[in-house]
Amino acid sequence: MSVEALPAPVRTDFPAGFVWGAATAAYQIEGAVAEGGRTPSIWDTFSHTPGKVRNGDTGDIAVDHYHRYREDVALMAELGLGAYRFSLAWPRIQPAGSGPANETGLDFYDRLVDELLAHGITPVATLYHWDLPQVLEDRGGWLNRDTAYRFAEYASLAARRLGDRIGSWTTLNEPWCSAFLGYGSGVHAPGRTDPAEALTAHHHLLLAHGLGVGALRAELPADAQVSLTLNLAAVRPLTQDPADLDAARRVDGLANRIFLDPVFHGSYPADVLTDTAGVSDWSFVHDGDLAEISRPIDSLGLNYYTPTVVAADDPEHPAPRQDGHGGELSPWPADTGIRFLPAEGSRTAMGWPVDADGLYELLTRLRDELPGLPLLITENGAAYDDYSDPSGAVHDPERVAYLHGHLDAVRRAAADGVPVRGYFLWSLLDNFEWSFGYGKRFGVVHVDFASQRRTPKDSARWYAEVIRTGRLPR
Ligand code: FCB
Repeated sequence: MSVEALPAPVRTDFPAGFVWGAATAAYQIEGAVAEGGRTPSIWDTFSHTPGKVRNGDTGDIAVDHYHRYREDVALMAELGLGAYRFSLAWPRIQPAGSGPANETGLDFYDRLVDELLAHGITPVATLYHWDLPQVLEDRGGWLNRDTAYRFAEYASLAARRLGDRIGSWTTLNEPWCSAFLGYGSGVHAPGRTDPAEALTAHHHLLLAHGLGVGALRAELPADAQVSLTLNLAAVRPLTQDPADLDAARRVDGLANRIFLDPVFHGSYPADVLTDTAGVSDWSFVHDGDLAEISRPIDSLGLNYYTPTVVAADDPEHPAPRQDGHGGELSPWPADTGIRFLPAEGSRTAMGWPVDADGLYELLTRLRDELPGLPLLITENGAAYDDYSDPSGAVHDPERVAYLHGHLDAVRRAAADGVPVRGYFLWSLLDNFEWSFGYGKRFGVVHVDFASQRRTPKDSARWYAEVIRTGRLPR
């Protein structure tokens, strides 16, 4: 047999077993907010409050995934996805915020998981992607320590019913947003604006994570994977001036170390406690909490979109706040003297600069600081002003370029020894983008919101080819 007749060796750009996925979240896609016994969440209340979401958009219908999940799983299969990251809606599963499970709510996830498995797609479930049952908000929400215990109860109910088929669980998605956008700048539900509350909520969310890990481990088989997803910031000082470096240290504390230290080392960073002493005495931290919070986890999920450039305030040239989250108030507690600036580079429709190096920087930092911990990119993607042209096609070359650049950063990081195990693109479908409503399209599948028609964009076909070949086009 000649050499030419031999099949070419399969070479891929990514590590063996690399997981190719896409991500969504319950409130952003499900709709059916009053069906199957679901009660309102804080996002129902918030989106129905005039002025909170652009154009008064709500998740009432969203992209109707609750009814169309079969069609959506078929789309995933067409893409060749190996895994699908979605979130469970707490108010569907435990509508009263405590007490027994609502079997009808669980039935929906049961059907979804079975449909995924029938198509060979691994389900990856997040327990909390921001939709706290409103009844718990009425009892104080994340300011009430008891909410953390309620979360653990909910985690048990979900794991008990679905743990035989879901092997990969994440407690919280981006607790930074829940605490700092929900309680600091108020651009997310529940829309409160008090830096002391943001820190209280932060701690109670981490406590919920720790208690949730314990609850999941008690219910799940020993080989189940339990994780947490953080939107860590690639913080860059504007210059090497000591004042700018100090601003970067402070933001790194509030964005990154305020999570990584307690979760992986069982302590809060001393400089963050000092920097925020004027805002909070941190008396909400009780004995034993940090041991709970630092229960071992199996991997860390990283969501990345754009870097964060900071500098010391320049009283001569005050700059408008530019941290990309909208709103008038700062989400950052005790951030006096810090300026947020846009990074260089082209911008997405969110106004977020495109900079894939930030992802590489974060991945290599995690490799160095948490040696051996498996990492997953649990979200990465971009919004652009996509439209369907007269032939029905949706051309999104900018999104393809964004994904290409960021996947190349993942490839480089893997080649440099980062234990990155998978990539979940945000998002499968255009959806309800929180306070920006339906105006920001992140999907690789276009959704005509009025007809609910799904049309894969060029980026969907591009991603399918990357998945099929395991390589980035040259
Ligand atoms: C992340 C959220 C996700 C989505 C993207 C664009 O912060 O986790 O739900 O809104 O941003």
